[in-house]
Amino acid sequence: MADSDKKLENLFYNECFPRASRYDFRWVAENQMGPNALWLAEWLMEDLELTPGMRVLDMGCGRAISSIFLAREYGVTVFAADLWIPAGENWLRVCEAKLENQVYPVHAEAHALPFAESFFDAIVSLDSYSYYGTDDLYLSYIIRFLRPGGKIGIVVPGLQAEMENNPPEHLLKAQSNGKVFWEPECCTFHSAQWWKKHWEKTGLVSVDVADTMPDGWRHWAQHERAVEASGFAIFPSDEEALLEDAGRNLTLVRVVGNRAQNENIASSAQGTDPHVWERAFMNVCANLMAPMNKKRKT
Ligand SMILES: C[S@@+](CC[C@H](N)C(=O)[O-])C[C@H]1O[C@@H](n2cnc3c(N)ncnc32)[C@H](O)[C@@H]1O
Repeated sequence: MADSDKKLENLFYNECFPRASRYDFRWVAENQMGPNALWLAEWLMEDLELTPGMRVLDMGCGRAISSIFLAREYGVTVFAADLWIPAGENWLRVCEAKLENQVYPVHAEAHALPFAESFFDAIVSLDSYSYYGTDDLYLSYIIRFLRPGGKIGIVVPGLQAEMENNPPEHLLKAQSNGKVFWEPECCTFHSAQWWKKHWEKTGLVSVDVADTMPDGWRHWAQHERAVEASGFAIFPSDEEALLEDAGRNLTLVRVVGNRAQNENIASSAQGTDPHVWERAFMNVCANLMAPMNKKRKT
């Protein structure tokens, strides 16, 4: 192996994630879309047990490397759902990985999922859930696709604690490459405690785990450096801001919840009535309004 490749391999190697570190670093570099999806998946699996044969939704899977990792490492069947990456592209990767019978790419928008109610044994989402899941109504939508007693687990970029004021100066200034860390999307960054409350107040899940990755900022910064060195970076590196922040604010947050078995939960959350976002909900409204509209006309 050339010296430059050896150097890159070392940058992608992380002893905290031994399973992930066995994967070809070039493949990870070429297909990464944010803080190392394999590291995030391996960390999530410490608290979300997957057993062979389970059906898993990998929501916002990007280039499906986490889906391939989960299928290979834990023997599960993965539905790899994503919006920005065409399913056909992910299918090529799945075929290359020889997992045609275990990973099924699906092009889907998070608010219009084409699955049956209670279909999944587990739902996971890595560096994606914050794009849609901070909405108060989202958990009640996605949970319909999880069987009662099944687990939902996410890892997202987040905060050590909720910010009482505006973001600190060091996250708002340009790094030496010109990139400012804090973009409007960062407003979806929250603390582990925020996520726990956000989920538990729905009454739909009990939260088993809501914590932050030990040294998460260091791992995230390592990944930024590795990707930059590989030449496959999609965005300019955020390593400098992460190192300056040194974990005071930025971290990686993990949340694992258990779908309630409780019969009292609303039938819309169970999937027996349409969710307010579903087109079918219009029919429910029309039926409810019909007698009133009739009265008005007469
Ligand atoms: C930062 S990328 C991470 C991708 C992948 N999980 C990873 O870690 O490499 C975020 C992903 O979330 C997906 N995403 C964002 N908003 C979405 C939505 N409304 N519906 C479905 N997927 C969405 C995008 O398509 C994108 O691939």
